[in-house]
Amino acid sequence: MKRILSCMQPTNRLQLGNYLGALRNWVALQDEEGGKNECLYGVVDLHAITVPHNPLALAQATRETAAAYIAAGVDPKRSYIFVQSSVPAHCQLSWLFTTQTPMGWLNRMTQFKDKAGKNKEKASVGLYSYPILMAADILIYKATHVPVGEDQKQHLELARDIAGSFNEKFNSGKEFFIPPEPYIMGTATRVMSLRDGTQKMSKSAESDMTRINLTDDADTIANKIKKAKTDAGVVPHNDGECEGRPEAANLIGIYAALADQTKEQVMQEYGGQQFSGFKSALVDLSVAKLSPITSRMSELMSDSAEIDAILKAGAEKANELAKPTLEETIKLMGFWS
Ligand code: AMP
Ligand code: TRP
Repeated sequence: MKRILSCMQPTNRLQLGNYLGALRNWVALQDEEGGKNECLYGVVDLHAITVPHNPLALAQATRETAAAYIAAGVDPKRSYIFVQSSVPAHCQLSWLFTTQTPMGWLNRMTQFKDKAGKNKEKASVGLYSYPILMAADILIYKATHVPVGEDQKQHLELARDIAGSFNEKFNSGKEFFIPPEPYIMGTATRVMSLRDGTQKMSKSAESDMTRINLTDDADTIANKIKKAKTDAGVVPHNDGECEGRPEAANLIGIYAALADQTKEQVMQEYGGQQFSGFKSALVDLSVAKLSPITSRMSELMSDSAEIDAILKAGAEKANELAKPTLEETIKLMGFWS
C-alpha cells in the first residue's frame, strides 16, 4: 500500500498552477488503485510563518487552502486533510532532525537562496531550516510517496538523506524512517505567468493579471486570458514552432491540461489560427472547468463550521498516525521517558 503525503502553504490565494501542477494529481492519487492508497494532505501553516505573516489572516487562509483541496476533489472521507500546527509531532521531530542535520546540507538548498535573496542576514532561521520541517512532515507519517513539483525535489532529496542518516546512526542501518519517493506525475503541468512565459505562475507575484486564482469569477478569468501576453504570430502547429515562444507554449499547455489532451492534439486543432479565437476557446474551457471548483470553495468558505469539523477530524487521525513514530524515534535516540 502506498502512503501518499503532500502539503501546501496557506499563503495568499491558490492559483491555476496549484491546481494543474498539484491538486489535480492529489485527487488522481486518492482515486488510483481503486482508492486503496492512504492519502494525507496537509496545510502547512508552520511553514507559512517562515516569512513575515499577518496573524489576522492566517487562520482564514488555512481554511481557504483546505477548502481548495476539497473543492478540487480531495474527499475528506477518503483522504485525511489536516493542519500542520494541530499535530505537534511535526515540530518535535523537526527539532530532533535539526540537531542531526549538517549545515552543509542546508547550505545547498537553492530555494533558501532564492527566497532570502540579498537579505540573507535578515531572513529568519526558520526559513533556513524549513526543509528540515518538511522532512519531518513526511517522515513522521512514514509516507512512501510525495507528489511535488520540480522545485521541491531538492527538499525531498534532503528528506531522503535525513531518513538514511537517522537509520544509520540510530537503527544500525536498518530501515526505520522510509526514504520517500518523489512522485513527479506525468500529468503535472508547469503553468507559467500569463504576462511572462518564462516565469512560473505564482500566488505571490505582484500583479494579479499574471495568474488565474481559484477564486476568480468567470468575467475575471475571461479578462485575464484575453489580456494574456502572446506574440504577433499565429497559434503554433508543433513543438518546433513553440521554440522561443514561451507565452504561446504556456497557453497551449494550459488548454491541454484542462481538456485532458496532449499539447499535440491542441496544436492540431488550433494550429494556424489567430490567438484571439484560441483565447476565446480557452476562456470557455477554463470557466467550465474552474467554476465548479470556485463555487464549491465559496460554499465551503461561507460555513467555517463545516471546514473546521473536517480539519478537526483530520488532525485526530494525523495525531494518531504520528504518535508511534515520534515515540519510537525518542526511544531510538536514547531519551529518558
Ligand atoms: P506553492 O504555491 O509554490 O507553495 O506550491 C504549492 C504546490 O503547487 C507545489 O506542489 C507546486 O509545485 C505547485 N505549483 C505552484 N505553482 C505552480 C505552477 N505555476 N505550475 C505548476 N505547479 C505549481
Ligand atoms: N515546501 C512545500 C512547498 O512550498 C510545502 C511542503 C511542506 C510540503 N511540507 C511538505 C510538500 C511535505 C510535500 C510534503 O510547496
